[in-house]
Amino acid sequence: MEVIIKSNYDEICGEAAGIIQQEWQKKKNLVLGLATGITPLGIYREIIELHRKNEIDFTDVIVFSLDEYLGLEKDHPQSFAYYMKENFLKYVNIKKENIFRLEGKPADIETHCQEYEEKIKSHGGIDIQILGIGRNGHIGFNEPGSSLSSRTRVKTLAEETVNDNARFFKNEQDVPRFCLTMGIGTVMEAKMIILLASGKNKSEAVFQCVEGPVTASLPASGLQLHPQVKILVDEEASSSLTRKEYYKWVFQNKDRVKDHLK
Ligand code: GLP
Repeated sequence: MEVIIKSNYDEICGEAAGIIQQEWQKKKNLVLGLATGITPLGIYREIIELHRKNEIDFTDVIVFSLDEYLGLEKDHPQSFAYYMKENFLKYVNIKKENIFRLEGKPADIETHCQEYEEKIKSHGGIDIQILGIGRNGHIGFNEPGSSLSSRTRVKTLAEETVNDNARFFKNEQDVPRFCLTMGIGTVMEAKMIILLASGKNKSEAVFQCVEGPVTASLPASGLQLHPQVKILVDEEASSSLTRKEYYKWVFQNKDRVKDHLK
């Protein structure tokens, strides 16, 4: 795991957008896995800005959404389809046929989930998966207890998640109780994973994710088994990490590795 600690939220978003742009330069038909939540909004803003300055182009880019509430139509203001369109996709030149997402109202849940997995594979897999993290350590909507090898499927939201998400709905009873989400096994097949966390309320989840044991009880900890994960955190979100100074040291010196070969 590469832990990158920046002083504030804007800096982690700038760093994440920079990584995505660099990867796009190497592969113009980049396959991106997109997450929702407040945290990734800054990355989308940065990428939109790069696109406006002609520094990234979406003609061949393909996107897959990570999750969706079950029961919401795609134009429901709280659906993740709506979020993705309004906060990102409508501002870039992505082709409609290159946007893949989980349906809130699929005709058949199992078939839909299986087809989603197949679609990801048919595009050569996800190159970069963007992730946020829930306070209980969930990634996507893989709540604590989710199998670390789970695939795209229906999940019941944890009470904590329902409460956290209630702020986005008029009434608490309107908050969906179920969702569809890529599984942890699905996420783990992405070639690179960028997890972003900001603020004190994420510091315990970040600590468990990076320095705790690998356990299904803290789904994000499964990422420790992935070969290319970047954990981008601001000072507050990194405040419980015990090896903070080491991570900073590694980041400051990473360009000096090559010097040792001269
Ligand atoms: C939801 C999403 C996750 C996201 C999490 C944290 O549960 N399904 O993908 O990481 O919320 O969201 P936020 O960034 O708003 O804290």
